[in-house]
Parts: sequence; C-alpha cells; structure tokens
Amino acid sequence: MEDHIQFDADACALLLLDQRKLPLVEETYPCRTVEDVIYALQTMVVRGAPAIGVSAAYGCRIALKQAMAAGAYWRNELERLLSMLAQARPTAVNLAWAVGVMREAGAGIQDPRELGEVWSALAMKIHAEDIAMNKAMGRFGGALLDDGDTVMTHCNAGALATAGYGTALGVIRGAVDMGKKISVIANETRPFLQGARLTAYELHKDSIPVTVACDNACSLLMKRGLVHKVVVGADRIVANGDVANKIGTSGVAILARHYGIPFYVAAPSSTFDLATPDGSLIPIEDRTPLEVTHVGSTQITPDGVPVFNFAFDVTDHSLITGIITERGVLSPPYTSSIADIIGQDPRS
Ligand code: MRU
Repeated sequence: MEDHIQFDADACALLLLDQRKLPLVEETYPCRTVEDVIYALQTMVVRGAPAIGVSAAYGCRIALKQAMAAGAYWRNELERLLSMLAQARPTAVNLAWAVGVMREAGAGIQDPRELGEVWSALAMKIHAEDIAMNKAMGRFGGALLDDGDTVMTHCNAGALATAGYGTALGVIRGAVDMGKKISVIANETRPFLQGARLTAYELHKDSIPVTVACDNACSLLMKRGLVHKVVVGADRIVANGDVANKIGTSGVAILARHYGIPFYVAAPSSTFDLATPDGSLIPIEDRTPLEVTHVGSTQITPDGVPVFNFAFDVTDHSLITGIITERGVLSPPYTSSIADIIGQDPRS
C-alpha cells in the first residue's frame, strides 16, 4: 500500500485516503489549501508521524501556491502559512522536521516559480525516501524476529502511518519477506482505534495473520505466553532514547519488562529530536473529549463527566530492548548510540 498519499502536481492538490472512514469505506480526501491540509492533519484524515511529515512537505508546496496570490508580499504570507502548518499537531516531530527541511531548501530562492519547482521535487523526494527508509528498517528489524513469532503492536505504525510499508509493520513485513511465519496481535488503541481499524485492515489485506485485542487484554495475553515480541512505532525519540508514541505504549512496555518480553521501537531518523534531552520535555497532544465521550455519534459517558484524552505517552528508554532505524539497530546506552548513529550525517 503505497498510494494512500498522492500529489496532483497539475492541480497542486494533495489527495489522501481518508483514514477516518477505514476500514469500511475507501474514500479520497482532497486538500487544495493549507487550511485543508491542517484540517486533514488535525482530524486524522492522515495520521502517523512519517505520513504527517510527508503530507506537510506537500502542504508547503500548496502554501507557496496560495502565498503567490499575495503578489509582492508572497514571502511574508508563505511564512505565516508555514508557521500554521508546522503547529497543526504538536507531538510528532516529523511535522516540524519536514517543514524545516523545505524551509532550508527554499531559503536562498527569490523567485517563487523556481521555489515551486524545487519544492515539488523535494516533497516527492521526502515521500520516496520514507518508503526506502521503511524497507531498510524492515531488513534490519526483520532479522530480530524468529520464525513462528507472535508480535504485539500498539496503534498503527504501518503503511498508512508512513508513505508506505510502515515502521513497526515494516519490520513485520520484512520478516515475512524473509520467509518467516509471523502473527500479529493488534491492540485496538482507544479512542481512535488505529489498531482495530487500520493495523487490522492493512495486515489482513496483505494476508498477514492478525488478531485484534482490547488494550486492557495486554497483561493476560503476555502472561499466557501468547506474545513473543513487541514492536511499536514512534512520534518522537529524544536524545536519551525516551520515546513518545500512542497513549498506552508505555503501559505495554512496562508489562513487557514484567513478563520478560523484548520491546522494540522502529522509527526513521526523521523521528529523532536530538535537541530535546529527555522525554519529560516532549509536548503531549491533548485532543477533543468527544473522541472519548462518543463512539461515532453515540454518547457513551454521562453528561457533564470530564474525561482525559491525551493522545501520546512517553516510554522510558530503560524499557526499550532496541531502536530499529534505517541506519541499523540502536542498543543501550541510547545517549551514545543515538549520538553516534543518528547524530552523524550518513553521507559524511
Ligand atoms: O495519533 P496518531 O494516529 O497520529 O498516532 C500515531 C502513532 O502513535 C504511531 O505509532 C506513530 O506515529 C508511529 S507511525 C509509523
């Protein structure tokens, strides 16, 4: 599945498979303005850290087209639109990363038409490189799984959360491509149900055996010996190896440690934030209570009762067996392995 994010260069429009409607309806959501892209990010038409980054890169190109309507003031208008775009969601660092890469490439270009050409090509490069990074992670991570393993994953870190192939699910696909028999337990992931709806959808489509479990079944499944390894994705990995990922991930990691089950994180270098020393400084998105108080249009909590809807939590680096990246598998101590492998330019 590598076509759920498409860019129509002639129309300067981003075409997204609407993930809110999966698995039952496959519908395209077109974004023609930056406001459309921001809406798509915030309402999770498209979600997952790398997919957010790729969409934001195309969003910059759309912002430029919009800004050109401001004539001589196009640069100021562009800056305003890019700042809005970069703040659409706070936790996944790939969003700020992608806008930063686009900004840097455009810094010295004075002609908006020339900038348009540079940015169209760069957004497509970011898109293609994300798929290549996932496939490299699949090769490194696939080697860590054993034939016959059942792997638990939390949220959706698959093709839908990236440009294609996936990070955590890319590792599973990598092992399957090596001829290993792998089964998956997908935690349902309340409240947006990325596991039940999206992970189950894409694995089932690929004929990889998948069973959906309620989030609160995790301990029982581990205790019964039904989980051999855990592999999850990440929204931000900071300098000491602390990992922000979907709410509930840290609980899965704590349980995995309790039951002696290896816990891996898979993420590309674009998900690392080396400027942040530890996880306590990662901004955690606090989403609308409606996602918790309602299932679809049905209210499930009493009127007037407050709810929590933090979208992410932080897993302590001490609970992580290894971090799978496109440059190799990082081992503890993470402060030095991250500095050595992610802190270096791979081309130097
Ligand atoms: O709120 P979401 O659906 O954007 O959260 C997604 C996750 O937490 C994923 O696990 C993470 O972005 C990694 S995606 C390869």
